Amino acid sequence: MALNISESAVTVESQNRRSEKRPVGEVMLVRRPKITASNINVYYGNKQALFDINLDIHERQVTALIGPSGCGKTTFLRCINRMNDLIPGCRVKGDLAINGEDVYAKGVDVVCLRARVGMVFQKPNPFPKSIFDNVAYGARIHGLASNGTDLEEIVVKSLERAGLFAEVKDRLLEPGTSLSGGQQQRLCIARAIAIEPEIILMDEPCSALDPIATARIEELIDELSQNYTIIIVTHSMQQAARVSQRTAFFHLGYLVEDGETEVIFSTPEDERTKAYITGRIG
Ligand SMILES: Nc1ncnc2c1ncn2[C@@H]1O[C@H](COP(=O)(O)OP(=O)(O)OP(=O)(O)O)[C@@H](O)[C@H]1O
Ligand SMILES: [Mg+2]
Repeated sequence: MALNISESAVTVESQNRRSEKRPVGEVMLVRRPKITASNINVYYGNKQALFDINLDIHERQVTALIGPSGCGKTTFLRCINRMNDLIPGCRVKGDLAINGEDVYAKGVDVVCLRARVGMVFQKPNPFPKSIFDNVAYGARIHGLASNGTDLEEIVVKSLERAGLFAEVKDRLLEPGTSLSGGQQQRLCIARAIAIEPEIILMDEPCSALDPIATARIEELIDELSQNYTIIIVTHSMQQAARVSQRTAFFHLGYLVEDGETEVIFSTPEDERTKAYITGRIG
């Protein structure tokens, strides 16, 4: 995909919101990584999709994964909540730890892991249920509410935090699919946060949305990163610059470079990163 973007545009956009409030350098000093990927190699049958990925993801920050189509961004995301387990023929080698605990260790409860690591997909995918039941779904399965009042509280709080409650409070029993695309995506985010995950993975969450709905989701990502560790895959350099504190650039299955977003976009070390962010490859 050709990115019609100039180098100076990226630099201007890289004045991201969170770094103004909370200097990135300061945060780096006090935090240990939330997620550590060490020598991750992923294969689909005989075809290798990721090569020796070493990447630390910092807690309560937004990390953007960028890179050309097919470079392995989604594959890497799926390593974190073991969604690759669901793909026949897919093998993951290497170590991936959350809070220092091996996600691939024997005896890890994958259902529990996926409750700790929520996921929001490119296309909003509300369940064929009411708005209320969409958000209540995970809380019910994981037994987070002891009675109906508790459940209502979880639903209302999650919708509020996803910035959707005011728009849907009079139609909670209507189908989730009756909402607009941007509202459906916020519903999916409400559904993800209702079970209090520690990490939220977002795979191109705005690619099906208009600029207004996109801005709404970006504000939300910014707010959510106060409490959650967020990884967002995006094809928009401007979006990566606006929402993330850190950026990792993937190319042909390799992690080429990662670091503070402002540095990656202003003074990338690798020629491939430079070529990608200025629209010369990808
Ligand atoms: N289920 C699968 N079976 C076989 N190969 C796959 C599968 N999913 C991904 N791949 C391959 O693995 C490589 C990485 O794909 P992946 O979906 O991770 O890329 P991506 O960076 O997310 O791309 P995009 O930006 O287009 O979403 C590609 O070559 C792709 O064809
Ligand atoms: Mg993808």
